[in-house]
Amino acid sequence: MDSLLKNNIHFVADLSNVSKAIVETGYSQVYVLMDEHTNEHCLQLLQEALVDYEVYFFFLEVPSGEASKDLSTCASLWESLSEDNADRKTLLLNLGGGMITDLGAFVASLYKRGISFYNIPTSLLAMVDASIGGKCGIDFGGFKNQIGVFQQAKKTFVYPKFLNTLPELEFWSGMAEMYKHALICDAAHWSALKVFDRKEVTPALIEHSAALKAEIVAKDPMENGERKKLNFGHTIGHAVESYFLQKEKPMPHGYAVAFGMICEAHISTQHNLLNLVEYDEIEDLLKTKYEFPTIPKKDFSILLEFMQQDKKNEDGVINFTLLQAIGSAVIDQSATESQIIASLNYLLNE
Ligand SMILES: NC(=O)c1ccc[n+]([C@@H]2O[C@H](COP(=O)([O-])OP(=O)(O)OC[C@H]3O[C@@H](n4cnc5c(N)ncnc54)[C@H](O)[C@@H]3O)[C@@H](O)[C@H]2O)c1
Ligand SMILES: [Zn+2]
Repeated sequence: MDSLLKNNIHFVADLSNVSKAIVETGYSQVYVLMDEHTNEHCLQLLQEALVDYEVYFFFLEVPSGEASKDLSTCASLWESLSEDNADRKTLLLNLGGGMITDLGAFVASLYKRGISFYNIPTSLLAMVDASIGGKCGIDFGGFKNQIGVFQQAKKTFVYPKFLNTLPELEFWSGMAEMYKHALICDAAHWSALKVFDRKEVTPALIEHSAALKAEIVAKDPMENGERKKLNFGHTIGHAVESYFLQKEKPMPHGYAVAFGMICEAHISTQHNLLNLVEYDEIEDLLKTKYEFPTIPKKDFSILLEFMQQDKKNEDGVINFTLLQAIGSAVIDQSATESQIIASLNYLLNE
């Protein structure tokens, strides 16, 4: 798991590793950023591990949910840090799912031109994906991750026992990114995950999935090529996620990605890249695991507008990562509007 260590990611069976790292480095103040769920379920585990170390925590809490990944929440966090006179040797611990790690990393990266932060992911999605790779940012103007920077965490500590309290829906949301890692680069991982239910989520499988992401990031940290593979399912997925952000019931990120992966696998067949047998296997598995709300046809134009705004586009062409087989992705592909709509129709009308 060299790629994990290169990215400073530590799988730990004991959270005292966090306090040990803090004490060894020496920080003036240590803040813990969390939402109400990670405060309730995860903070105590972190604090229990402090027994042998003299580390005093300050706490910052934001409401759970994607709506907190916004500019006004950043402003209130920066205000709290400023009011406390937090200096540049302050450390921020991001204790939460991907919302907290994206938000906290962004806040830390800009406060006083950057303070150190550790990610302590507590959701499956954050363990295998969001806390790895240095992308951090917030939603803006109704668009997902519109404002952000690349900034690596000083350290990331993955402690799988946090998953004991993770709700079922959030577990499956994280599984979508594990399926994605398998589909883009590891057919054997796909075979292992296919037969897999929540009970079988072993730390080894989580670690393998995180390592697949870390390996890609290590090769291409700034997303000039190889890293684009990780965007599979995300062109349509982000559009669907943004669409549901405007509705009463937002769609969990992984569910939107699962939706996007079926559509983008369908586009891959339209490009004669992916064969129909493998397409059916992907569609069958994802449809068994995920239930999707319907989207009326009249709203497809809204989805296309979101796709037009995607950060990955170049020269106004919507950029896709497609599959040429299970375990093999191809970057920098385009699709016509009618191909995109055909994939949406296929998924929503079947
Ligand atoms: N930076 C990246 O590379 C990257 C990659 C993928 C996703 N993301 C981002 O990650 C976010 C989604 O992350 P997420 O799915 O973890 O969402 P999330 O952070 O909103 O967490 C989902 C829910 O689970 C709760 N939760 C988390 N850990 C828990 C635990 N151990 N016990 C009980 N409840 C717990 C949270 O409070 C929240 O209610 C999105 O904003 C997405 O854009 C970023
Ligand atoms: Zn994702």
